[in-house]
Amino acid sequence: MAEDAILGYLATAEEIPDSGQFATQHGLHHNDVVNVIKSLHGFRYIDAQDIKRESWVLTDEGKKYAADGSPEVQLFFAIPQQGSISKDELQKKLEPSVFKIGCSQAGRNKWVDMGKQVSRKVQHVEDKVKGLLIRVQNGEEIGKDDVNSLKARKLIVAQTWKGYSVRKGPNYAPKKKKVATDLTRENLQRGDWKELEFKEYNFNAKGPPAEAGHLHPLQKVKQQLTNIFLQMGFEEMPTNNFVESSFWNFDALFQPQQHPARDSHDTFFLEAPSTTRELPEDYVQLVKSVHESGGYGSRGYMYDWKREEANKNLLRTHTTAVSTRMLYDLAKQPFAPKRYFSIDRVFRNESVDRTHLAEFHQIEGLVCDRGLTLGDLIGVLNDFFSRLGMSKLRFKPAYNPYTEPSMEIFSYHEGLKKWVEIGNSGMFRPEMLLPMGFPEDVRVIAWGLSLERPTMILYGIDNIRDLFGHKVDLSLIKRNPLCRIGIN
Ligand code: PHE
Repeated sequence: MAEDAILGYLATAEEIPDSGQFATQHGLHHNDVVNVIKSLHGFRYIDAQDIKRESWVLTDEGKKYAADGSPEVQLFFAIPQQGSISKDELQKKLEPSVFKIGCSQAGRNKWVDMGKQVSRKVQHVEDKVKGLLIRVQNGEEIGKDDVNSLKARKLIVAQTWKGYSVRKGPNYAPKKKKVATDLTRENLQRGDWKELEFKEYNFNAKGPPAEAGHLHPLQKVKQQLTNIFLQMGFEEMPTNNFVESSFWNFDALFQPQQHPARDSHDTFFLEAPSTTRELPEDYVQLVKSVHESGGYGSRGYMYDWKREEANKNLLRTHTTAVSTRMLYDLAKQPFAPKRYFSIDRVFRNESVDRTHLAEFHQIEGLVCDRGLTLGDLIGVLNDFFSRLGMSKLRFKPAYNPYTEPSMEIFSYHEGLKKWVEIGNSGMFRPEMLLPMGFPEDVRVIAWGLSLERPTMILYGIDNIRDLFGHKVDLSLIKRNPLCRIGIN
């Protein structure tokens, strides 16, 4: 429509001086006219020159007054024709901002007497401001002084209007020819390709952006951490089971059955299948007895251990469940020292906020060897974390049911200028290792931390929902930079 209008008009006229006026005259949207002008210009049917105009538009406040009247007039009409009204009464009748602005403008116009009592000073007022605002809204010109006063009251703002003036171009025709964009089998069969006019190639057109996969920041940091573990001689554990039995997640870790973490408020239990199919029976008996009555120098927890509780399936709450299975397998073979690591997902029934989700990734490392000490653990942690760029570490005694001693790990954060907790660690208890069948002098040192925390720090993300889940902005995934751990 706009295309025919423009080309048709130029058949008899020299020029369309202003695309804005042209659009209004022809009942077209200016945007449509602009799009057609750009395209016709591209085919050189027309020549187009930019024109720019400053115009005025109403601010939100201006729009309100154009509809409801200026505050000073609203105030005026809230005052009785005869007599007076108390200032407090008057204030109650009006919106706070209308009252405040109305008082000062009506006072300046000498329309009202302002005191404790307010009364009209004139018979009649005219809402000049509203009138001017409506004219601006309709695109009419108003005087310079009026512009200045509306501008000073922030009721209008300047806006640059962009349009075109248009003349015939070298390829002008009153109607645009349809050009072919494809050479089809039908064109060849009919032979009409000889007459067809083909659209020229536009070698300057940008092609669509190439679609390709992009690594999520968590994947990048995970890869860097994997490299660090591999450089330190660690082997990766198979973590491809989100569903675990309570036995491997808790019982084998000497975590008592009445421990609060085993509550459904903290752990997601499975409805179907609700229980595990098989557990290594001999080992289950040993775990049961170490819970009930101890052994290996321990008194145990002294309660009735229930098999049904151990059978319950859950979404693993930590990757330490995997470490436990690995250690159990290792203990069955002739002893050889091992270093294992894993980085994978775990689930906790927690309330979600800016730093917590009900699922996250855990990084876990363990070293199993004869005669290891707490000093070895501290040494390995210093080595590991300094490779992550965190060389200032501090440790604080902590408690885990499966480690003794246990230590929280803190690192000095140069940016935040304070010590932040970065992980948890400890030496697995004999109550856990000896039932597996390890020789008595074998010790296992281990630590765990979240993958999300360092990733958020490295990528400057402060809300975990911007990193993981359905609210993640895909352009973040497409554009996030390489991960360069330790170089910051
Ligand atoms: N499993 C612990 C946690 O979930 C981390 C940890 C791993 C602690 C190994 C000590 C030893 O926080």
